[in-house]
Amino acid sequence: MKTLYQKSCLKLSDFTSKEIFYLIKLSKFLKTNKKNKKEKKYIKGKNIALIFEKPSTRTRCAFEVAAYDQGAHTTYIGPNDTHIGYKESIEDSAKVLGTMYDGIQYRGYSDSILTDLKNYSKIPVWNGLTDKFHPTQILADLLTIKETFPEKLLKTIHCAYVGDAQNNIANSLIEAANIINFKLNIISPTSYWPQKQYLSNKYPVYNKNIFYTSNVQEGVKNVDCIYTDVWVSLGENKDIWKKRIKELYPYQVNEKMIDLTNNPNIKILHCLPALHNKKSVIGFKIHNKFNIYNGLEITDNIFNSCINLSFQQSENRLHTIKALLVSCLSKEKILY
Ligand code: CP
Ligand code: NVA
Repeated sequence: MKTLYQKSCLKLSDFTSKEIFYLIKLSKFLKTNKKNKKEKKYIKGKNIALIFEKPSTRTRCAFEVAAYDQGAHTTYIGPNDTHIGYKESIEDSAKVLGTMYDGIQYRGYSDSILTDLKNYSKIPVWNGLTDKFHPTQILADLLTIKETFPEKLLKTIHCAYVGDAQNNIANSLIEAANIINFKLNIISPTSYWPQKQYLSNKYPVYNKNIFYTSNVQEGVKNVDCIYTDVWVSLGENKDIWKKRIKELYPYQVNEKMIDLTNNPNIKILHCLPALHNKKSVIGFKIHNKFNIYNGLEITDNIFNSCINLSFQQSENRLHTIKALLVSCLSKEKILY
């Protein structure tokens, strides 16, 4: 395998399965070293630009802490802070950033901006979430699954995804299933199934290891884990909540769904943030407006139970993003 030095990650399928397994191995190594206080700094003095057009807690903090742990520096560029794309084209801004930085993280709406940043900056660019994909999240999820089922090879995992199967998490999870070849059941109303033309020709949406159903009972039976995500993603119009709740409520992760898995060791994945209670401004508004008392995409009791892996996924954002930064920015051959 060639090293990942100077590689970008606009989507998960920019990597081969070998490269993904390598990133998971490197993440574990860096995680252990950090816990044992034996972390070596591989990217000392590197500079990383963090462009955020949409809000973030986990992704921003993971990039910042990973960079600092590894001796690199970051600049946070928020939606109203710079000329990028407003008074100056993405092309010109990318050329400027390319003269000052060693890598760029971009979170925003469009994948074409990512491509322009990469092409014109000539430095590695990493997708920290777009409308279409969220590859760094899925890297953390794969590490979490590997840690949770140490006796299983990733390709033998059987995962279900319930809810909005047209969003960035679903698209990146479908890419992961195709690259690694694990079984994935997509469970949602047919109108929420991914569009055929949406993903790459190399990894088509409709593939033999991906099973589509609108029937929850059929979809969750005997799976190892169930993944869910919010029903309205960042950047979507809030007027869509009524329709989404009506159509996706039957796909809520709740006790009934857990029973239907018939698996006493079932685990739940969620990228977070989750709308499982009223303790956030949006959670409060939506629960009250639509007379919901126990969570949107996941109930509060399942969220607070020990089968929920979402906080482990969150921690693993740090270690997997660190592995990405180290492997793309350091010439050193670590664990190859
Ligand atoms: N999961 C995730 O990307 O979280 P943030 O939106 O907080 O970055
Ligand atoms: N689908 C969600 C993921 C958040 C991490 C969104 O785009 O808002």
